[in-house]
Amino acid sequence: MKEACLLLVAFVFGLAAVDVRAEPDPHSYAEPDIVAVRALDLELDVDFARQQLSGTAMLTLDWRDPLAHSLVLDTRDLAIESIQGVAADGTTVDLAYTQDPRDPIFGSALRIDTKTAVPNVRIRYHTSPQASGLQWMTPAQTASGKQPFMFSQSQAIHARSWVPLQDTPSVRFTYTAHVTAPKALRVVMSADNDIAHALDGDYRFRMQQPIPSYLLAISVGELDVRSTGPRTAVFAEPSVVAKAAKEFEDTEAMIAAAEKLYGAYRWERYDILVLPASFPFGGMENPRVTFATPTVIAGDKSLVGLIAHELAHSWSGNLVTNANAQHMWLNEGFTSYVENRIVEAVYGKQEADMQLVVSAQELHTEMQGMKAREQLLVTNLEGIDPDEGLSGVPYDKGSWFLRFLESRYGRDAFDPFLRAYFDHFAFHSITTPDFLRYYSENLEGKFPGKVSSADIDAWLHQPGIPSFAPIPHSARFDAVDKAAADFLAGKLAARKLPARHWVTYEWLRFLNALPEKPSIAQMQALDKAWKLTGTGNGEIAFRWYVATVRAGYTQARPEIAAFIERIGRRKLVVPIYSELAKSEDGKAFAIAVYKKAKPGYHPMTQASVEKALGL
Ligand code: BES
Ligand code: ZN
Repeated sequence: MKEACLLLVAFVFGLAAVDVRAEPDPHSYAEPDIVAVRALDLELDVDFARQQLSGTAMLTLDWRDPLAHSLVLDTRDLAIESIQGVAADGTTVDLAYTQDPRDPIFGSALRIDTKTAVPNVRIRYHTSPQASGLQWMTPAQTASGKQPFMFSQSQAIHARSWVPLQDTPSVRFTYTAHVTAPKALRVVMSADNDIAHALDGDYRFRMQQPIPSYLLAISVGELDVRSTGPRTAVFAEPSVVAKAAKEFEDTEAMIAAAEKLYGAYRWERYDILVLPASFPFGGMENPRVTFATPTVIAGDKSLVGLIAHELAHSWSGNLVTNANAQHMWLNEGFTSYVENRIVEAVYGKQEADMQLVVSAQELHTEMQGMKAREQLLVTNLEGIDPDEGLSGVPYDKGSWFLRFLESRYGRDAFDPFLRAYFDHFAFHSITTPDFLRYYSENLEGKFPGKVSSADIDAWLHQPGIPSFAPIPHSARFDAVDKAAADFLAGKLAARKLPARHWVTYEWLRFLNALPEKPSIAQMQALDKAWKLTGTGNGEIAFRWYVATVRAGYTQARPEIAAFIERIGRRKLVVPIYSELAKSEDGKAFAIAVYKKAKPGYHPMTQASVEKALGL
C-alpha cells in the first residue's frame, strides 16, 4: 500500500519511480530505516598545533518512523563534548547520549536519545590526532617545506573519524561548511571551491547535490591554483602546480568525451587537487575536486588514465552509488569501464587496448593468489574491514563483465543503456539486484537471447574469469612480446631492444614478461641500457623494483630506499615491501627503510606496510 502511494505520488509529480530496495550495511551502526540524515552543516576550526578539527556538526533529520527517538551515528576516536536537539524555531535542548566501546574496525556507535523526533541535532566535538581519515603533515613533509598540510581520505569508512554521521553510502545528504584555518593556507573541500578566494583563513562551502559520507573531503595547505579550462583547474603546492596544469591539460576533453557517451556532467566544476606524495591512493573521486597523488604526473601524460578514472566516478559512484561495500563493483567496475572508454575517445584505441591488456593480465596473476570467495564480484564483507577487501576484482573483473555485455549487445545498444542507467538511478544508492532488475527490463528484455542468466551468474557469483569472456588484444604488444622473448632467450641484447619509443604501457608489458627470477646479468644489462633504476615513472618503477628484488640485483637498493621514503601511495610501495620481506636480508633492509619512512606515511599506508613486514 505504502509503495503504491509512493508510485502514485511519483507519477503525479512526473518523477521517475526508482525501484531501489534497501539492504543493511555491515559497516555502519546507523539505522537509516528509522531516521536518515538529509543535511549536514559543519563549523570547523583547523588547528595544526593540536592536529585537530574542532567545532560543531548540525544534522538535519528525516524521521522515517515518527514515533522513534533514538539516533545512532558512527564515530571513531571522536571526542564528543555536547549534543543538543534543535527545534524548527531554533530553540535548543540538551540531549543525553552514550558512546559504545571502540571496535577496532568500525569505531564507536554514538547513541543519542532525542526524546522526540527532533528536526535537527547539533554535536560539539573534536577529532583525535590519530584520526584514521586525516593525515597531518609537518612543513618538512611537504614539497616547499614552509607550511603544514592536512588532507582527508574518507573512503571507505573514515569519514566517521572526522565527522559524527551515518557513515554508510546508502545515506545521501547535502552539506555546508564554515572552516577557519591559519591565514596563508587554502582550504579545499568536495564542494563549490572558489578558485579566486582570498587567503584569509575563512572559508565557506556548499554542496547542493546529495552525496554519501565517503565523498566528504577537506584539505588545507599551501596551495596554488591554476585554471586549465572553462570548468577545470588544478590545486597543488606552488612548486608542482605548473607541471600539474600541463599534465592535466586534457581534462576538459575528457569531460566532453564522457558527456557525449553518458550525458551531462552534473557537478559543475571538475578540479584536481594534487596532494603531497604521502597520499595513500592514486586518486579519490571527491565530487568537484578529485584528490590525486603527484605520482600520476609522469611528464608525458602516460598515467592520466587515473584522471579519466576519477572523472568517470562523476557518473559511476558519485551519481549512482553502491549502497554498501559488498557491491563495490558497481562503483569501481563501472568506473574502470568508463575510464577505458574515455581513454579510447581522447587518446585512441591503441592506448586504451594496451591498458586493458595489462589490467587483464595482472588480474589473472593476482587471482592466482586469491581464495575462491575473494574472486567473486558480489562479496560478503560482514565483520571484514572494507579497506582489506580491496583487490583488482571489483575493478578489472567488474569492467570486464561490462565489456562482455558490450560485446554481446553491441555499442549501439549498450551505450544508450548505460546512459539511461546513470539517469535512472542518479543520486540513488543501489545494490547488484537493483542493477540486475534494471538490466533485465532495459537490455536483456529488449534484446533477448544474447546473454543467458547462467552467463550473468558466472560473472557475478563464480570465481575466476568466465571461459567465454572476450579476450582483449593489443597489436602493439605483439612486438614487445617478441622482443621480450628474444631478450630472455639470449638472442637479443638489452641495448638492442626496440624500446627507444616505447610508451609507458609497453614498458609495463615488458616488465610483466620477466620471469619469476630474472638473472642479475639480465637486470644489469637492462639497467645499463635503459636506466630503469631511478625512473621518474612510478608505475614502471614499482614493477622494476619488485623484479630487482626477485633477481637479487641489490645495486638498486639505494634508489628503492629513496622511492619508498618519498612516496606513500600504497599500490606503489606495498608490493616492494612484500617482495623484500621474502628474504631475511631483504626484510632487514625493508624494516630499516620503513623506520625512516614511517613518520611520513599516512596511517593506512603504515598499516599495510606493517602487515606486509609482519610487524
Ligand atoms: N575510490 C577509489 C579509491 C578507494 C577505493 C579508496 C576503496 C578507498 C576504498 C578510487 O577511485 C580509485 O579507484 N583509485 C585508484 C586509481 C585507479 C586508476 C584504479 C587508486 O588509487 O589506485
Ligand atoms: Zn575508483
